[in-house]
Amino acid sequence: MDLIPRPGRATTREGGFFELGPDTKVLAGEGTEAADRWLRATLGAATGLPLAPGSGEDDVLRLSLDGELDAEGYRLAVVPSGVHLAGGGPAGLFWGAQTLRQLLGPDAFRRAPIPGRQWRLPLTEVEDAPRFRWRGLMLDVARHFMPKDGVLRYLDLMAAHKLNVLHFHLTDDQGWRVEIERYPKLTGTGSWRARTKFGHRASPLWEEKPHGGHYTQDDIREIVAYAAERHITVVPEIDLPGHSQAAIAAYPELGNTDVVDTAGLTVWDTWGISPNVLAPTDRTLRFYEGVFEELLGLFPSEFIHVGGDECPKEQWRQSPAAQARIKELGLADEDELQSWFIKHFDRWLTARGRRLIGWDEILEGGLAAGAAVSSWRGYAGGVAAARAGHDVVMCPEQQVYLDHRQDAGPDEPVPIGYVRTLEDVYRFEPVPPELTPEEAGHVLGPQANVWTEVMESPARVDYQVFPRLAAFAEVAWSDLPAPAERDFAGFERRMAAHYRRLDALGVAYRPPGGPLPWQRRPGVLGRPIDGRPPNK
Ligand code: ACM
Repeated sequence: MDLIPRPGRATTREGGFFELGPDTKVLAGEGTEAADRWLRATLGAATGLPLAPGSGEDDVLRLSLDGELDAEGYRLAVVPSGVHLAGGGPAGLFWGAQTLRQLLGPDAFRRAPIPGRQWRLPLTEVEDAPRFRWRGLMLDVARHFMPKDGVLRYLDLMAAHKLNVLHFHLTDDQGWRVEIERYPKLTGTGSWRARTKFGHRASPLWEEKPHGGHYTQDDIREIVAYAAERHITVVPEIDLPGHSQAAIAAYPELGNTDVVDTAGLTVWDTWGISPNVLAPTDRTLRFYEGVFEELLGLFPSEFIHVGGDECPKEQWRQSPAAQARIKELGLADEDELQSWFIKHFDRWLTARGRRLIGWDEILEGGLAAGAAVSSWRGYAGGVAAARAGHDVVMCPEQQVYLDHRQDAGPDEPVPIGYVRTLEDVYRFEPVPPELTPEEAGHVLGPQANVWTEVMESPARVDYQVFPRLAAFAEVAWSDLPAPAERDFAGFERRMAAHYRRLDALGVAYRPPGGPLPWQRRPGVLGRPIDGRPPNK
């Protein structure tokens, strides 16, 4: 059956089949409306079949809920008279519908029917449920803007892989991407930069062309609703107090005005970590409370991401105002000032019924009980957080940073970072063995992160993300054995079918042999590159 991610249990009976045809009726039980809509819209488009509502026992696609199953679990049975799909809840039913689509063959992933296709299903039984409840993808739309249509497409690609959290990195030094009505300059000024760096760090070049764009609040409402229909939660990130130069370029009073002439700052046009960080003033806090107030109205997600990573402290060391603030607050140093920022928003979000999540730097200084951590600098932050009773999303850069190169060969398009092969991702284990079962319960799940410094177009994003996201999805969903025991060869065999699905979806993945296979030199495959990469 070549299903990806691999289901918990699946059996096929030889010989018989059920064929979806023009008379196939959908029997949609109570609570199955969303899956019914999705099936009609998506499989209806691909097959050209009406999939009309109906009744009876024969030639039916029956949808129901079964409280005995996990909320995200499902049971799928293909019998000679039709398909019976039961979900533990609407989400489980939806994931089951994704499996049904895979069983129908690659052309079920197109948006219009190819003439002459048949929609035969082998007699099959699948029983399945996810290992983790957080199966995340972080998309950085700040470094390079992804127009709304591309985000909706990625939500569809996530759904096809049973992923259920989009961590939406909306702001950074190089751009602010979400409309905030009370601060129009955040997008008016902050969403465009004059030029963009490319090339290697040793010999940088600039593309002298403005780059930018943003989502209106209605765009965000549409994205959130489109995601919700697919049982995907969108977790927005507003990065603070570092990675904030675009906001400071728009509102110079947010910066450390006694150290730099922030009125002269522009949206950043290079990569790395900007030294221009937020000033630790009440005005800054009130400003960002205003940002988060609007954000809470747009994003129903329990978690709100406040960044907190990579905040250089040099300006605070030099700023008399920041130093006075440290004294006034009774803090030891600039590190505690960073913690003060995070704790403020931790309290602020908790008081509004939400939970803060931030990059693992936020652990340095203590957190409120409900706060969670995205462990990116390896496992250590996640282990410390879980031991302290905090929930954790495991996204270590050593395994699941999909901006990093996929191969050591000379023909990777923009070979930044270290080598993270398809197999490396497949052997990623989200739960470190040193955690006790109780601590391990704090691991919400894994997340793959897509930073877009060198991904200026959707095609470049596709190339970096696929096929590795398919391996990641299996790690996030399936009950795989320990990394060394995983059947990577079997996964690769199933990938042969999955590449045909990705083809039908129009995904510009990295070809299995690399982009220019005739240049491949045996021996360099998969060999790690030593030293810091040239472009990160
Ligand atoms: C990060 O990669 N700076 C979270």
